[in-house]
Amino acid sequence: AEDRVARIGILTVSDRASTGVYEDRGGPAIRTYLEDVLTSPWEGVALMVPDEQTDIEAALVDLCDRQGCCLVITTGGTGPALRDVTPEATKTVCGKMMPGFGELMRQVSLTKVPTAILSRQTAGIRGGSLIINLPGQPRAIAECLDAVFAAVPLCIDLIG
Ligand code: MTE
Repeated sequence: AEDRVARIGILTVSDRASTGVYEDRGGPAIRTYLEDVLTSPWEGVALMVPDEQTDIEAALVDLCDRQGCCLVITTGGTGPALRDVTPEATKTVCGKMMPGFGELMRQVSLTKVPTAILSRQTAGIRGGSLIINLPGQPRAIAECLDAVFAAVPLCIDLIG
């Protein structure tokens, strides 16, 4: 409902962060970015899962369907390694893909790091939720979101 505070899902996908080997830096970087950029009230719902496709899918479904997040931002698991399956999980749970987000984030990221081509990050729509994949590198968070965030409120309006 319009009078409710917008909920935003923040999903960290990482074997090492989820087992405590690494500290999660991607999730907090997403939260900081949103705090800086959003002007209306919102609340973040942060989850962390290992690089297991079924776990990622379950977390995405939970954030979209049960927690009612209009936006879910993932970090990690977008690369070429065997266990990088965040884009596959995103495609499985989405009814519609939004390939322009990944295309633009990669294009802008390539002006910062030549390895940007290694990310298969994408975006898609599940019901009234927009899901956006970001790479796991904390510095990639702002680089990628700066590229696409101007289109995010309209996209959420159009599916809501
Ligand atoms: N994009 C930006 N903007 N900044 C980065 O540092 N790292 C790249 C790429 N995209 C990076 C980036 C690297 S090294 C990899 S392997 C891929 O994202 C995938 O990262 P992930 O598997 O952690 O999602």
